[in-house]
Amino acid sequence: MNPRSAVIVAYGRSACCRARKGHLADTHPIEYSAQVLQGVLAKVPQLPHERIDDVILGCAMPVNQMDFNAARSVARRAGLPNSVPGQTINRFCSSSLQAIGTAANAILAGQMDCVIAGGTEAMSMCFHQPQEEYKDKLLDEQDIGIYMSMGETAERIAERYHISRREMEEMAVESHRRAHEAQVNGKLAPSIIPVTNVHGEKITEDEGIRPGTNMETLAGLKPCFRENGLVTAATSSQTTDASAFAIVMASDPAEELGIRPLARFISFAVAGCEAQVMGLGPIYAVPKAMARAGLTVDDMDVIELNEAFASQAIACMRELKLPPEKVNPYGGAMALGHPMGATGVFLTGKALDYLQDTGGRYALVTMCIGGGMGAAGIFEYLGS
Ligand SMILES: CC(C)(COP(=O)(O)OP(=O)(O)OC[C@H]1O[C@@H](n2cnc3c(N)ncnc32)[C@H](O)[C@@H]1OP(=O)(O)O)[C@@H](O)C(=O)NCCC(=O)NCCS
Repeated sequence: MNPRSAVIVAYGRSACCRARKGHLADTHPIEYSAQVLQGVLAKVPQLPHERIDDVILGCAMPVNQMDFNAARSVARRAGLPNSVPGQTINRFCSSSLQAIGTAANAILAGQMDCVIAGGTEAMSMCFHQPQEEYKDKLLDEQDIGIYMSMGETAERIAERYHISRREMEEMAVESHRRAHEAQVNGKLAPSIIPVTNVHGEKITEDEGIRPGTNMETLAGLKPCFRENGLVTAATSSQTTDASAFAIVMASDPAEELGIRPLARFISFAVAGCEAQVMGLGPIYAVPKAMARAGLTVDDMDVIELNEAFASQAIACMRELKLPPEKVNPYGGAMALGHPMGATGVFLTGKALDYLQDTGGRYALVTMCIGGGMGAAGIFEYLGS
């Protein structure tokens, strides 16, 4: 029995801004990531920054502006002392959930006491499809889907699971409805750290939500990934610029410093699956995380299942028997966006906010991962 607990003591994120069309499109991601990190650190003024053992930053496309170990750049840009190191990690769409898992593991192993776990994706500047000249030819021929566009994997799941376009669009309408309701009722605001963009504008609200989304409009949209396909822009996650951070600590030093734990890390699991249907990843990861936790899906009070695409989210909900009312109660990525590397911490914070609002106890955070994987994390909200 391990007497150490890994606890989340603070978290926050930037608003989710539309890639290329939104308010962070031309602001350097190191700049807005640093602002978010400063905002999260400000929530625990009792924490001396010298006590931070590492900054782990998830990023699915650590290129261009996010190159050269962005974790270290963000740490320095945020004003952390030179003694605080940084590592950038990549497990595609689960990168910052992986950052929390890695931080918790280091804490539970007794190697670290305080770790910043976060993620940033600058999809305006750093997102690209795999380029032909860089592909490994043999792998490309033999492993169907390893370099496939994510949209095509969503089409294949719709085919395999006989999911209709109408069913996907119903999910998109509900995602926007819930996100809008949450936004109007101030449920999304508490996690948002205002950031100032390169034009001096203060960004405080998620930009992707379309309150008027309805079945008639969605039926008129053209498929995005196949000429006669089913998947449209509305039934895909939006491309997004955003950053999110959580502070993960061992419970003893947190108590010693007078820092109140908000949630306990319970378990984390990753699993692989066929790359051409990568969206099914949660079907394999969730049972592993549940078994390690000794819990079941029925024990969960909220489930954040990333809506990379409606087709894969529907297939995962069917296979895992997830009750729709518990899944993404504040809307999902079709409405709010999916800033890939930041999504894990963004969804964890969203789940914890929901538990705070409703008095629930357990949260499951799960997502599919390009290349054919799934990740799942389970947290216990410790009450306010
Ligand atoms: C699908 C994709 C290519 C669409 O890109 P896009 O054209 O820039 O998408 P947008 O969200 O800007 O939507 C395009 C248009 O569709 C229409 N539209 C989209 N959602 C809509 C909605 N809910 N209601 C009404 N119209 C909608 C609008 O006309 C919109 O144009 P506008 O913004 O000028 O009004 C892109 O979102 C994508 O690649 N998503 C997946 C990202 C990904 O693979 N992530 C990793 C997952 S594993």
